[in-house]
Amino acid sequence: MRPPLLSWLGMDCHGLRDFFKDRFPGIRGLRDILKLVVVTGISRGLGLAFYQRLTNCSNCWVVGIGRSFTQEQLDHARDPERRFQLVRWDLAKPMQQEKVNVLLSIIGEISQQENFSEIIYINNAAIVDPIAQVGCLEERAVFKAVSVNFMTPIFIANRLVRFVEDYNKKLKIINMSTGAAKRPIVGWSTYCSCKAGAAMFFDVMAKQFAGNAQFKICQVDPGVLDTDMQMKIRGADVNSCPEKGHFVSLKRDGRLLSPDDVAAQIVADHIL
Ligand SMILES: NC(=O)c1ccc[n+]([C@@H]2O[C@H](COP(=O)([O-])OP(=O)(O)OC[C@H]3O[C@@H](n4cnc5c(N)ncnc54)[C@H](OP(=O)(O)O)[C@@H]3O)[C@@H](O)[C@H]2O)c1
Repeated sequence: MRPPLLSWLGMDCHGLRDFFKDRFPGIRGLRDILKLVVVTGISRGLGLAFYQRLTNCSNCWVVGIGRSFTQEQLDHARDPERRFQLVRWDLAKPMQQEKVNVLLSIIGEISQQENFSEIIYINNAAIVDPIAQVGCLEERAVFKAVSVNFMTPIFIANRLVRFVEDYNKKLKIINMSTGAAKRPIVGWSTYCSCKAGAAMFFDVMAKQFAGNAQFKICQVDPGVLDTDMQMKIRGADVNSCPEKGHFVSLKRDGRLLSPDDVAAQIVADHIL
């Protein structure tokens, strides 16, 4: 419930802050609380839900990374009032150096306009393919999975660390983990191993920066979500994915989590 004064003024907390910010731009603490959120894979699923939630937060600038975007995202990226930029980037492709440079130059440009205090990187994009038992893995698909789920997040994190050290910002990393990083599931060997590898990478990073207030690393398992990733699993051949029946029953029994609800919780817990 809004406090009575805010109800009387007809605005929420963000509205009140913007009201003061517009009139007294020199006041410290108003512009400084801006957070720059970099999130991968925003075209659908949990990433789309992050995009929707974060672009409605008045204290966030959002940079979305992906190989495809919704029409709304493309339109909003052209509107300077929206505090939203996108980087078109197929995370499965090798040689990511140039794309990381594009990302950092966008962050550098934003930092000229806004005095944000913290960069938050949400490592969200992932692929469950190839769903196949070992011996039947298609090698190009393995390469893509390793690139999206494991290698590219390392490149991005590595360069962001250097960037925040140079520019004296804070860095928070939110790695979207999964139960499959700890539990072997036949048919998901690349997904399980890449997600486990990424989780270990971020654990090592957390240890490296333990006690350093400039860095914070969070591993978040969102639970089983009602997204295309689950649809793909339910559509897999049972020989390739012997546990498919379990995931079919989760959907049938209405036990999949809504990506909107999960994104709202993660944003409330880790970003606002
Ligand atoms: N779904 C679950 O039950 C579940 C459970 C535990 C953890 N998670 C984790 O939660 C996160 C989100 O999963 P989700 O269910 O939302 O997945 P999803 O519905 O399959 O969406 C994946 C997102 O990643 C993007 N992506 C895939 N390949 C890409 C590439 N080569 N380059 C750029 N972007 C690419 C997709 O973009 P395109 O539209 O371009 O393909 C899409 O936006 C993942 O990290 C996943 O491991 C999911």
